Amino acid sequence: MKTKILKRLKENDNFISGEKLSQEFHMTRSGIWKYINMLKEEGYIIESIPRRGYRLTSSPDILTFEEIRKYLNTEFMGRNLYYFDSVDSTNNQAKKIASKEMEGTCLIAEQQVEGKGRLGRRWISPKKKGIWMSVILKPDMEPYNVGSITLLGAASVYKALKKMDIDSQIKWPNDILINNKKIGGILTEISAELNKINYLVMGIGINVNLDEKDIPDELKTKATSIKINENRRIDRKILLANILNEFESLYISFVNENSNSKAIEICRKNSATIGKEVKVRQGKEEKLGKALDINNKGELVVEFKEGHIQNIFAGEVSVRGLEGYI
Ligand code: BTN
Repeated sequence: MKTKILKRLKENDNFISGEKLSQEFHMTRSGIWKYINMLKEEGYIIESIPRRGYRLTSSPDILTFEEIRKYLNTEFMGRNLYYFDSVDSTNNQAKKIASKEMEGTCLIAEQQVEGKGRLGRRWISPKKKGIWMSVILKPDMEPYNVGSITLLGAASVYKALKKMDIDSQIKWPNDILINNKKIGGILTEISAELNKINYLVMGIGINVNLDEKDIPDELKTKATSIKINENRRIDRKILLANILNEFESLYISFVNENSNSKAIEICRKNSATIGKEVKVRQGKEEKLGKALDINNKGELVVEFKEGHIQNIFAGEVSVRGLEGYI
């Protein structure tokens, strides 16, 4: 009911009387007043003037469906959206519900207290400063076909930022960099049988409006936020909707054409890895080489110092930069 009242207030630039709302929603005026107060507590600024009624004057910086819907032009991506004020990890929550939820279901949190990065690392997710979300996917494919799906997430983030005039680069396979520092990452988790995917959970984390103080000292040489780089606050609602819009379009091509070529091309063209010296860690082994390309399967083609060329599909790859390997 609260969402319906909010939607009605959003549709209307003028005052709507309490009387009118109570007729429309079949409840008493004090019932309406109770919901208006709940909205005010969430940060909505609602003017209320006796005999004129209520008028919404501003909305809070929160990533509910109600707040992003006007920017969203997807068919199914993000249309079923679970919103959390605070959660352990959206990926963990997504895995709990994935088997019974529809494809494209999205879980968004304002804060994660146990955000997870790749390789068991933690992912700092301070309140209302970033985009911390997970998307549930159910591609009808064999598991070996989705190896490159993380690139699809990275390409969507790249394109969404570009739309907002923000230049970024993709560090294969899952990092988004601005000026050689990480502002985002992707963690894809899969539940599958030998020849069937039950579901995939793609977690996307973007450091949008973090300030210097939000970035732990030990990460300061490697990580930053869009706000720190651009020197301005970024509209998280528009960025989130842009990511979902781009993601759906790339995902539909991926599933229909059974090929991730569009996303791979974006990652190749805007790569922070190709042409650079890289350090590849596979298990306990660490080897130096040069990244030559990303092939059509989405694997990184590396020429190792010893001379042989190998296609890497998993493992950790660091790129040599001015501040050492990132
Ligand atoms: C990485 O670069 O190591 C991957 C980071 C992925 C972070 C996101 S934030 C939303 C989702 N929930 C998590 O716990 N992790 C992912």
